[in-house]
Amino acid sequence: MIYLDNSATTRPYQDVLNAFVTINEQYYANPASIHEKGVEANQLLTRAREQIGEVLHTKGEHIIFTSGGTESNNLAIFGLTEQHQHIGKHIITTAIEHPSVLNPIAKLAEQGYEVTYLAVNKEGQISLKALQQALRKDTVLVSIMHVNNEMGAIQPIQAIARLVKTQSRAFLHVDAIQSFGKLPISFQDGMDVMTVSGHKIHALKGTGILAFANRPLLVPQLLGGGQEHGLRSGTVAVAQNVVLAKAMRIAKREQAMNEMKYRKYQHQLMEVLGCFQDVQMISTKQCAPHIITFSIKELRGEIIINALQKEGVIASTSSACSSKQQTESHVLQALKVDTAYRKGVVRLSLGSLLTDEEIQQACHKIKQVIASLKGE
Ligand SMILES: Cc1ncc(COP(=O)(O)O)c(C=O)c1O
Repeated sequence: MIYLDNSATTRPYQDVLNAFVTINEQYYANPASIHEKGVEANQLLTRAREQIGEVLHTKGEHIIFTSGGTESNNLAIFGLTEQHQHIGKHIITTAIEHPSVLNPIAKLAEQGYEVTYLAVNKEGQISLKALQQALRKDTVLVSIMHVNNEMGAIQPIQAIARLVKTQSRAFLHVDAIQSFGKLPISFQDGMDVMTVSGHKIHALKGTGILAFANRPLLVPQLLGGGQEHGLRSGTVAVAQNVVLAKAMRIAKREQAMNEMKYRKYQHQLMEVLGCFQDVQMISTKQCAPHIITFSIKELRGEIIINALQKEGVIASTSSACSSKQQTESHVLQALKVDTAYRKGVVRLSLGSLLTDEEIQQACHKIKQVIASLKGE
């Protein structure tokens, strides 16, 4: 089986799994307990926090552990807007964000917030000029993803941060779930708040962080025992978060090397897909290196996925989250993909465990499958 669905989720590293078991065996105490075992568990957690801080160029105290990307995005959006209501009730986002950003913002719109949705061009990029024009005195939050999960468009975060910081009082939140470990990204890029999810980087499902450039100031959305400086209650999952820190350090250390490897694989896969007349590339060479999204005219995505699976190649329709829903992807709509191509969208997404041989095999199989589906 050649697993090309790494943007949906990744296989945890064996080291991550081993460390998870060992830590649970020794450091199972509640890190909030004041006895020796609790103190030890808390020390481990504090070290993990500091390591994550180093990776992202911020302080350990500026990291909030959550249950994953969805919770982090919800916390950022609801927590920041509620805390900073005095700034105003205007939010800017893009038309192609993940539902875990779009849906909380839609909820705020129902409650009286005004939302500007920035459009994207055919490459999936926003216009900086449109952002500049959209920024207002009462803009409280700008939430823009670094890399789009359905087709890999990259937004210019440094330039966005410069605009937001010089022309407004708004907080800039960046969903970096699809970019962390694939492209360089840290607080040196100028955002205020960033989301990373564990299961996209070979750590465990149900883990993630909301990280801040400065001291976190937001209204908590989970109330309880006051963990995470009172910002996110709930007993903190020591082993899960320690291995998240481990996976983040590996991702950062290997980022440049993996980026090169993914570019090479992306090039090989795009070359194969380019041989067919009725195949349209939705990802471009300007997109992130690990996502290759394409569409076959007048064919359904599920048919292509099933045919690939029979040959041992695991892929998904444009996003795993919406692939079980029969609704048309909001990203394809925003990209204005021709309707004849909207149903046959397939996303191949790369991960660090892939080998040259697997990609060569995948290229061969994909060529065969498309040729047979097209009756060529
Ligand atoms: C860009 C993006 N944001 C948010 C999420 C949600 O993250 P999680 O699955 O950790 O809740 C995903 C997952 O698919 C994603 O790709």
